[in-house]
Parts: sequence; C-alpha cells; structure tokens
Amino acid sequence: MASNTINIIVKIWRQNGAQAKGQFEDHALKDISTDSSFLEMLDVLNEWLARKGNEPIAFDHDCREGICGMCGAVVDGIAHGPEKETTLCQLHMRSFNDGDTIIIEPFRTKGFPIIKDLVVDRSALDRLIQAGGFVSVNSGSPQDANNILIPQNVAEQAMDAAACIGCGACAAACPNATPMLFLGAKVSQLALLPQGQAEAKARAINMVKALDCEGFGNCGNERECENVCPKGISIRNIARLNREYLKAQFSYDE
Ligand code: FES
Repeated sequence: MASNTINIIVKIWRQNGAQAKGQFEDHALKDISTDSSFLEMLDVLNEWLARKGNEPIAFDHDCREGICGMCGAVVDGIAHGPEKETTLCQLHMRSFNDGDTIIIEPFRTKGFPIIKDLVVDRSALDRLIQAGGFVSVNSGSPQDANNILIPQNVAEQAMDAAACIGCGACAAACPNATPMLFLGAKVSQLALLPQGQAEAKARAINMVKALDCEGFGNCGNERECENVCPKGISIRNIARLNREYLKAQFSYDE
C-alpha cells in the first residue's frame, strides 16, 4: 500500500424510502487516496457496487465545491463529518486513518424524511424561504450603491448571515430538530440591510409561522447547530431572529 492511500471500512445506511426499514451495510475499501474527497470515496464504492451488479448508494451532491448546500450526511455522529466549517463534499480522506471504520448515516430529523439511503427530503427549508425569505417590493430601477449607505460592520454581518447554504445540518444536529440557525441567517441577511426593512415584520412573523407549521421545534441554546454549520453561521443570528419576531409581534397588522 502506498503511503498516500488508506484501507477503510464504511458502515453505511441503506434505506429504500421513508417508510422502509433501514439497516447498516459494511464495505471494505482498499487503497483509497487520501487526496480524494469524501464524495469521491463514495463514487469509488458505488463503481464497485455497480460492477458487482448491486445498487449504488444514493447520496445528494451538486457543486462539490461547498457552495450549493446539496450534500450532507452524518459521519461518525457529526453532520458533515469531523472537520470544522467543512461541507461533506469538501471533506477529504486525509481526515481519516488507515484501518478506520467510518459510520455514514443520513441527516436524521423528523422534518427531513428519508427518500433513499443518504438522500433526505429538505423541501421544508424551501417552504420556509417561500414564507418570507425574499424581498419583493417593486422599488424601480437600481440606485447607485452610494445612495444607500451601509456601515461596513453591518454589511459584514449581513454577508456572514448570507453565507448560509441551506444544507440543513443545523436541524440534523439540533436536539430539538429545528433549523433555527438557517431561519436566523435568512431573516438576518435581510433584516440588517435597508432593502429588507419594508417587509421585515411580515417576514419574521410568516417565517416563524411556517417553522411551526412544519413541526420543527424551538431553539434551546444548545449550540450544536453552530458547531456543525459548514459556513460558521453564528447563533447570534437566532437571537436577531427572536428580536425581529418580538418587534414584529408588537406592531404587525396582517
Ligand atoms: S455538493 Fe454543493 S455544497 Fe457540497
């Protein structure tokens, strides 16, 4: 075995639909390059499964560059795996040791039913966005950026919140199974900027209402979400969401 390859065993979750009974399946993989990404390791496993006439493992991915939010699984008990602020697609096999057994499961939370194997239905997050995570006022043609002065630190906070890629790891890690970090980021990125003010109250009320309708829990300040967020979104955004919601409740006319 060359020094830049490892032999591993993967214990991976297989499940054929939300109602089906799932189980772990073990596979031994030899000579996996430590330069390959985690998803490339799964590609190798799938090629091997296909060659043997077995069904490949279903897993979500798109950009493989840490920007689209499509990938995600729980690796050794941690959403997106052991590296801080790293999406599953950006996790590399050099994070593991020769001889490791790696346990791979889907994001497990009531709001994300399993579709197949590691693929979960995260459309609940889309419905939260549809409830208010946008600016829809018709404000005419764009103004010169200098006409809307935004302090640098405020712009930075809005950009930090806007870094959320909507992967859902926050809900998968939360003991209350809630994507409050996601919601906080989406509310904050607009609440911090003048362009988001016109609909700020309706946004906070409607997005929290949608969260309740989806059956997600409330934030218990456990901070597990912050620990696994691949974009390092701070729970300060949840505090801002709560402030926006309280402010809106006292002054919002439906
Ligand atoms: S595949 Fe796009 S963030 Fe991982």
